[in-house]
Amino acid sequence: MEGHRRVVCGATQIIGLLAFIYLLYIQSFSFDPINFCFGKRNSLKRNETKEEVGVLEEYLQPSFKSLLSDDDLRTLETSGFACNFAVGSLVCVASKPVKIDTETMEIYIPTRFNSTNRTRFSVKKEGEVIQVIRPYAWQQFDLLKNVTPVKFLREPPQSPVRHCDYDHKIPAIVFSSGGFTGNLFHEFNEIIIPLFLTSRLFESKIQFVLVDYNPYFVEKFNRVFSSLSRFDVLNPIANTSVHCFPGAVVGLEFHSFLAINSSETPKGNSMIEFKNFLSVTYGLTITNVSDSGSKPPVLLLISRRKTRRFLNEDEMVEMMEELGFEVVVVKSDKTMSDLDRFSKLVSTCSVLVGAHGAGLTNQVFLAAEAVVVQVVPLGLEWPSAVYFGEPAVWMGLRYLGYKIEPEESSLIESYARDDPVISDPGSVFAKGYYVGKEVYLDKQNIRVDIGRFKSTISEAVRLLGRTTPLSTR
Ligand SMILES: *[C@@H]1O[C@H](CO)[C@@H](O)[C@H](O)[C@H]1NC(C)=O
Ligand SMILES: *[C@@H]1O[C@H](CO)[C@@H](O)[C@H](O)[C@H]1NC(C)=O
Ligand SMILES: *[C@@H]1O[C@H](CO)[C@@H](O)[C@H](O)[C@H]1NC(C)=O
Ligand SMILES: *[C@@H]1O[C@H](CO)[C@@H](O)[C@H](O)[C@H]1NC(C)=O
Ligand SMILES: *[C@@H]1O[C@H](CO)[C@@H](O)[C@H](O)[C@H]1NC(C)=O
Ligand SMILES: *[C@@H]1O[C@H](CO)[C@@H](O)[C@H](O)[C@H]1NC(C)=O
Repeated sequence: MEGHRRVVCGATQIIGLLAFIYLLYIQSFSFDPINFCFGKRNSLKRNETKEEVGVLEEYLQPSFKSLLSDDDLRTLETSGFACNFAVGSLVCVASKPVKIDTETMEIYIPTRFNSTNRTRFSVKKEGEVIQVIRPYAWQQFDLLKNVTPVKFLREPPQSPVRHCDYDHKIPAIVFSSGGFTGNLFHEFNEIIIPLFLTSRLFESKIQFVLVDYNPYFVEKFNRVFSSLSRFDVLNPIANTSVHCFPGAVVGLEFHSFLAINSSETPKGNSMIEFKNFLSVTYGLTITNVSDSGSKPPVLLLISRRKTRRFLNEDEMVEMMEELGFEVVVVKSDKTMSDLDRFSKLVSTCSVLVGAHGAGLTNQVFLAAEAVVVQVVPLGLEWPSAVYFGEPAVWMGLRYLGYKIEPEESSLIESYARDDPVISDPGSVFAKGYYVGKEVYLDKQNIRVDIGRFKSTISEAVRLLGRTTPLSTR
């Protein structure tokens, strides 16, 4: 059998080969032409390819399988293609060789036959689109309009429609940075954590293909990408060719906001592991808050500049210093987006304080058992708890929510105490997410009641196992 496959392929010979390929199909249903002819001018000896692909396939199966439910797995085994609609996002897996045309983001998967009765497994016609997905881990939002659709098609075996320009020996993971990039919460929530979940089992032997390639984003997370993959992130529009892979995953696995549900992943992946991964990736040496030394503990205050601003920040800082903290105030997104430097700063802090907002995502860099204090503006209890509060605990951190009173909100200057905006935020969000967003997320600032907030910060001190005041200054 191996001897028969030692054929050199070239563009001019393709047509002549078709009859031969067809004969092989009759003999073996595992054969497929993509392994057979790589590229227009490449000449590959079948035994070499066969061996490599064989090894890869065996090795890849567990990684592919981890992304699918048991039902989808049966589909994958018979047809070489399956999608998981069960998770929060949509993940499709092709476990057999694919050709990705990066110009159109069409992915050709081979048609496979049942060797006994020689009918196609695929119910769809060859060349027909079998699945379209927008590979972004938050499928609910209208922001998906900025995410390029990726199409899966069955390629007719007798007349392959594409040649391979590049023959990759490792599979691809295709995902998009066309969503909320630029916002640290969404970057971690929808791309970085899902990418960690999706790619970890491939142990770096994976090619990332980033549609809607955002150079700023790739640069910002460059350490994460190089930790998870040995290869540079491929930008489809900068490399419009047909790239062939022994398999592909499109879309990323998503569990919950800033969270990994360890009961859903093999090898017990969890947020603790994700944080350890970040520590190694960014070279963070302090991994437990009790290792941060005897000096005054550092409190990092995230100072938002546009909305949800602290109107009496100086007083807050003064109070925190009185309690013995060295207070570091970070005002600029630019400072925070230099992850190399900023992650190191965060890892040395004992307490992270901020109003509900993306800056709190930096909790992923805190050492174990550090304290997160979230100031919860009016109307934002739910996202505060779900996006940051609960995830903080799952990450092995201590969490304190400081829910402001109406008097601490700038909204009290524009609305009466009994106005539904103040008394019943739920009724405002009930009119539509964007109605609520404009009032509570975009138009609200905070003047914290220093006396009341002081007890929260003192509680943080207690959680750190210290007594108040920490030191006399
Ligand atoms: C198979 O490939 C190896 C290289 O991996 C080569 O040395 C060998 O000659 C090939 N064997 C046959 C039978 O072609
Ligand atoms: C292939 O077709 C035969 C005959 O219809 C059937 O018995 C067998 O289960 C099929 N194989 C697979 C893997 O579905
Ligand atoms: C051939 O096998 C496929 C896959 O198991 C099955 O769906 C189909 O009904 C079979 N066709 C015949 C004619 O047995
Ligand atoms: C396109 O991708 C291939 C395979 O990764 C690489 O070898 C080639 O240099 C790339 N071309 C450009 C123009 O980036
Ligand atoms: C984690 O996944 C399991 C199994 O799918 C599920 O029962 C459980 O509710 C999930 N936990 C959370 C916190 O989502
Ligand atoms: C952190 O250090 C404290 C004190 O040494 C220890 O009790 C705790 O178990 C450590 N936590 C973790 C997650 O290692």
